[in-house]
Amino acid sequence: MLPDVIETERLLLRPFEPDDARALFGWFSLPEVARWSGTGEPMRDVEEAEARIARMPERRGTHPAAAILAVCPDASAPPVGMVMLVPIPASAGVERGGGVGDWEVGWHLHPRSWGRGYATEAASALLERATSAGLPHVVAVTHPDNAPSQAVCRRLGMTDLGLRDDWYDRMLRAFVLPLPAVGTRAPHQ
Ligand SMILES: CC(C)(COP(=O)(O)OP(=O)(O)OC[C@H]1O[C@@H](n2cnc3c(N)ncnc32)[C@H](O)[C@@H]1OP(=O)(O)O)[C@@H](O)C(=O)NCCC(=O)NCCS
Repeated sequence: MLPDVIETERLLLRPFEPDDARALFGWFSLPEVARWSGTGEPMRDVEEAEARIARMPERRGTHPAAAILAVCPDASAPPVGMVMLVPIPASAGVERGGGVGDWEVGWHLHPRSWGRGYATEAASALLERATSAGLPHVVAVTHPDNAPSQAVCRRLGMTDLGLRDDWYDRMLRAFVLPLPAVGTRAPHQ
C-alpha cells in the first residue's frame, strides 16, 4: 500500500473516519453537490453518510494505488470534501484497460470550499500516486453539464474524450490522462 495520508501545499488528505459522517453529510445533503453523481439525490440523514463511510473499504478494494481521502485544509477541523482514486466499473459488455481495467479520479467539495483550487490540488496528489503505482492512465467521468468538474479535469491536463458510455452504463463526458511510466526519463538534449 502507498501511504494513505498525503500532505500537499495546503491540504491534509487522510482516510475517512466514522466521526466524519456529519461533515460528509454536510456536502452530500446539498442538491448542488449531490446532483452530479450517483442517483443525483441528496442524502436525507446522517445515517446514509455513516453507511457510505462504512462502504469505503469495499469501494476502494485492495490495490495499493486505491484511495478515498478526506480533504482537510485544517488538520484539526472536519473535512471539507473528498477525493478518490479507484477502479471504475466498465459498462456492461465493454472491455477496457487491456484486462487490468480503468481507474478514475474524482472529487466532491462542500460549496464553502469551492473556488480555492482545493479539488485540483488534491487530485494532483492522487495523480502522482497513480504514477507511483504504475497505472498507465487515469480517467475522470463527469455529468455532461458539470462544467466546474470538467474545468478541474482541464486544469489537471486531462484530455477531453467527449461523451462516452464506456463506464457506469451511462453517457458521461470523459477525460483521460496518460501517465508516465515510473523510471522514464526525458531524453538528454
Ligand atoms: C467539481 C468541484 C470540486 C470543482 O470545484 P472548484 O472549486 O471549481 O475547483 P478547484 O477546487 O480546483 O478550484 C478552482 C477554482 O479556484 C480558484 N482558485 C482560487 N485560489 C486558488 C489557488 N490558490 N490555487 C488554485 N486555484 C485557485 C481557481 O481560479 C478556480 O476558480 P474558477 O473556476 O473561477 O476559475 C465542485 O464544483 C464540486 O464539489 N461540485 C459538486 C460535486 C461534483 O460535481 N463532483 C464531481 C462529480 S464528476
